[in-house]
Amino acid sequence: MSKVIGILTGGGDAPGLNQVIRGAVCQGVKKYDFQFVAVKDGWKGLLEGNYKPLTINEVREWGYEGGTLIGSSRTNPFKHDDGGEKCRANFESMNLDAIIALGGEDTLGVAYKLWMDYQIPTIGVPKTIDNDLPGTDQCFGFDTAINRVMEAFDRLRTTARSHHRILVIEVMGRHAGWMTFIGGIAGGADIILLPEEPFDFDDITEKLKKLRDTGREYALVAVSEGAKMRFVGGTDLITQDAEVDEFGHVKLGGIGKVVADELERRTDWESRHVVLGHLQRGGAPTAFDRWFATRLGIAAVNQIADDNFGIMVVLKGSEIIPVSLEEANKSIRTIPTELLEIVKIFEP
Ligand code: F6P
Repeated sequence: MSKVIGILTGGGDAPGLNQVIRGAVCQGVKKYDFQFVAVKDGWKGLLEGNYKPLTINEVREWGYEGGTLIGSSRTNPFKHDDGGEKCRANFESMNLDAIIALGGEDTLGVAYKLWMDYQIPTIGVPKTIDNDLPGTDQCFGFDTAINRVMEAFDRLRTTARSHHRILVIEVMGRHAGWMTFIGGIAGGADIILLPEEPFDFDDITEKLKKLRDTGREYALVAVSEGAKMRFVGGTDLITQDAEVDEFGHVKLGGIGKVVADELERRTDWESRHVVLGHLQRGGAPTAFDRWFATRLGIAAVNQIADDNFGIMVVLKGSEIIPVSLEEANKSIRTIPTELLEIVKIFEP
């Protein structure tokens, strides 16, 4: 029986979103005779009843596009009066049979609650360049992001070397340092600072001095925006301001400058910093992410055809499988201790 499927994208964009949508729409229309609508700007669109039809003709050319072409927001319906009821009412008035939600732990947390408490049939597709969602081995968008980080290191190395400077490169990643870790190793960082292990300026200064003693005239330091500085009595996280979004997240950013200034002061080695920021998220996805995202879109629609809801489609090994959406709300997938050991073997 034909069904009408709503698709939405929530939270920070990630390369691959359009390819999930393209895969889902093409599979759904061709194989199951489903119809699709784009629910605009994440959960905001369901809350406000804002949507538009999505046809094969429209998504045909979305194979190489970055960002999300159906808009995103960090709207949490449950922070709005009668949010759940409004979502249910709009789901019905839009004549939807199911929703595919593409997002991170926040978007997928809402999808799970709408399924459990409001009987809205939802399916999740995990997304975040931070790559920290539990339940999946990897998120689409991550491969593109780490390649951007690596390319940035390759460029910054030549200028750091020319001017005999320390270059501190601030990389996104709120609670987990996957991008800084893999991007930093691939880019040949001398020091890698991650949210998983609060860092100590005495220790980094020591290592940089050691590196300089070997004759090296420049250094590359990778720092995750969510890395915490250790001081007597606690740790410190650098935020842009005191504002939090509807899911309670602070705006990170600024640690690169703090680290560069402090290292220059301590080592007397001229230092600069670069914030990679949204450059890591924008632009076209890698071939891996395009294919991975396409597989996820197809898998999500196959689950709808099987009436399997309250789940997300994830990568396990080389397979795409369904797991409960509840998984997305378990604790953040940080870098395991045995992998953190790898950072140390490349340090001065
Ligand atoms: O969650 C993904 C992410 O890119 C984080 O790495 C970063 O802290 C955050 O989003 C930035 O969000 P915004 O685009 O709202 O500034």
